[in-house]
Amino acid sequence: MNQKIWVGTNWKMTKTISEGLAYTEELVRISKKVSNNIELFIIPSYTALTSISELTSQSRIHIGAQNMHWEDSGAYTGEISPRMLDEIGIEIVELGHSERRQYYKENDADINKKVHAALRYDMKPLVCIGENIVEKKNNISKETLAAQLKVCLKDLTKEEASSVMIAYEPVWAIGENGIPADSGYVAEIHAFLREELIQLFGEVGSDIPLLYGGSVNHENIIEYIDIVDVNGLFIGRSAWETERFEEILRKLENHLYN
Ligand code: PGA
Repeated sequence: MNQKIWVGTNWKMTKTISEGLAYTEELVRISKKVSNNIELFIIPSYTALTSISELTSQSRIHIGAQNMHWEDSGAYTGEISPRMLDEIGIEIVELGHSERRQYYKENDADINKKVHAALRYDMKPLVCIGENIVEKKNNISKETLAAQLKVCLKDLTKEEASSVMIAYEPVWAIGENGIPADSGYVAEIHAFLREELIQLFGEVGSDIPLLYGGSVNHENIIEYIDIVDVNGLFIGRSAWETERFEEILRKLENHLYN
């Protein structure tokens, strides 16, 4: 396998600016030894974005934001606009993470507006989708995911779609109480998502990076990355310490490229 993969982490609401800077300095050092086939990204907290994007400007680490509003400006207290993220050189914007959907009632239609807004500013939307445990138990995972994809990516041209990345993150697999997904299940779902993307965007759909996330750690990464339609890994807790992230990167690199 000699394809590029995307590997990154969302810090959620964990690191302060100083903690984030220390982490990033270390990751910049680590990144110099990581194969160029691995596209590395981090998604810091908002307060740390400016200083971290300055720190990484000469490195190969891509920086993302955890959310944004779809309007350029306006009376939306507490929100951050695409114009503001563009000003500080943000390249990726994570949209529709399950915690945003669950605690802040984000829905697919709003995510779709955000996807269009990100593309207007040449930012790469990283659109998160995933079924919850009730949907899984009722055997409607695929229907749920197909609907999420369709609405989140509504009215995108093929060219626009080619800038999007998708993260499949089953809600029941995320976080402290998450149950790591069986790799056979992930393979089935990713193959399904690939077909859906091809149906929506033709050939372009075959090249849209499909990342997997949810309790990914150094023990299960190889199983996940060996799945044909898994083009990257989106990691939470297991990448919040650089030592553990480095171990994951080494393992991937040895397995895929050596
Ligand atoms: P986790 O988080 O790896 O800690 O389960 C994944 C995510 O929320 O993207």
